[in-house]
Amino acid sequence: MIPYGKQTIDDDDIAAVVAALKSDFLTCGPEIEAFEQEFAALVGAKHAVVVCNATAALHLAMLVAEVGKGDRVVTSPNTFVSSANCAAFVGATPDFCDIDAETYNLCPKALANGWKKDTKAVVAVAYAGQSPDMPAIAEVARSHGAVVIEDGCHGTGGGFSVYGKDYKIGGHPWADITTFSFHPVKTMTTGEGGMLVTDSDEYARRARHLRGHGITREAEEFIGLGGDTTELQEQGGWYYEMQSLGYNYRITDLQCALGRSQLKKLPSFIERRRAIVAQYNAAFADLAWLQTPQTLNAENAAHISWHLYSVQIDFKALGLSRSEAMQRLRDQGVGSQVLYIPVHLQPYYRKEFGYSVGKCPNAENYYEQALSLPLFPKMSDDDVDTVIRNVQKIAQ
Ligand SMILES: Cc1ncc(COP(=O)(O)O)c(C=O)c1O
Repeated sequence: MIPYGKQTIDDDDIAAVVAALKSDFLTCGPEIEAFEQEFAALVGAKHAVVVCNATAALHLAMLVAEVGKGDRVVTSPNTFVSSANCAAFVGATPDFCDIDAETYNLCPKALANGWKKDTKAVVAVAYAGQSPDMPAIAEVARSHGAVVIEDGCHGTGGGFSVYGKDYKIGGHPWADITTFSFHPVKTMTTGEGGMLVTDSDEYARRARHLRGHGITREAEEFIGLGGDTTELQEQGGWYYEMQSLGYNYRITDLQCALGRSQLKKLPSFIERRRAIVAQYNAAFADLAWLQTPQTLNAENAAHISWHLYSVQIDFKALGLSRSEAMQRLRDQGVGSQVLYIPVHLQPYYRKEFGYSVGKCPNAENYYEQALSLPLFPKMSDDDVDTVIRNVQKIAQ
């Protein structure tokens, strides 16, 4: 079966993990900081804070931006649940703004029109790897004093072009914090893993602090346990203070060693993804019942790192239900996936926040016709042909 997504691991990756296993540190060692530095350089951000997964990174983003009870956080419904759940983790109200009908990303006009004054943050998701219109989203959010969190989980290594200049996701002025995921189906992997990047010294400091239980071992930061702190500062290295309610969101050195090895190959992974997308687009261009992914503009298209190849299918015109179409593909060894069920329609969100059908019509229509086809660098030319052939003849 050709799955819809899969990691690409080679002997160099395995050697890097084995070397980390043989080293003195399985966690809290030198691979952590090295990975952070290399990643920050790749995206062009001042700080990178690596964590155990992107859901943790989104949670930390909420905490460092001081989002909490009484605040609203607006995101796209066309995303994985974490983009919204992070708001609920901190007691804020997750809310949803409809997507643009062409790019399937959060629509800045809808964001402006539906703005509610308790909105403290916007989580702007780069669906499938394509960034939403970040300058327009930032303009709306910042004019109301809200923080912009870019959920770049689909877009590691990708970017966009605006005002004649090229920017990397995580490395532009229209987001205060960006998060990335290194789950195996993403553009690079650490098994599980995530990154928070920011240009803010304070956000980065707080994120590091909360990643490690809210504990500090830095003598100059000690507050003390009620007594004189001078003595504490003179102690050996054993003393520590928990100053905030933090978490264990650490990642291991083994994973960061894998991440560093994957980083080296990220450009070639993205190149292969783009080549497969181009092949699919050409092969499916004439199918009246299938819409290939649309891009914000041609300039941008060249910068997308394409985590997903998501098409829109008019299942009525095709004469098959989505489940039947997926089964036919599966019978021929082609996996597919539905990404995404609009998050506001998930039972938890209906029950807890009273959201219902009709809240985000574009996202709901998108979902009705959505199908993601296999896309990962390790796909052979034969795999790509198999997918193309079976999609083309699916109705026969
Ligand atoms: C858009 C988006 N945000 C956040 C996440 C959460 O990532 P992780 O699985 O690393 O927690 C995902 C993962 O699928 C995602 O697709």
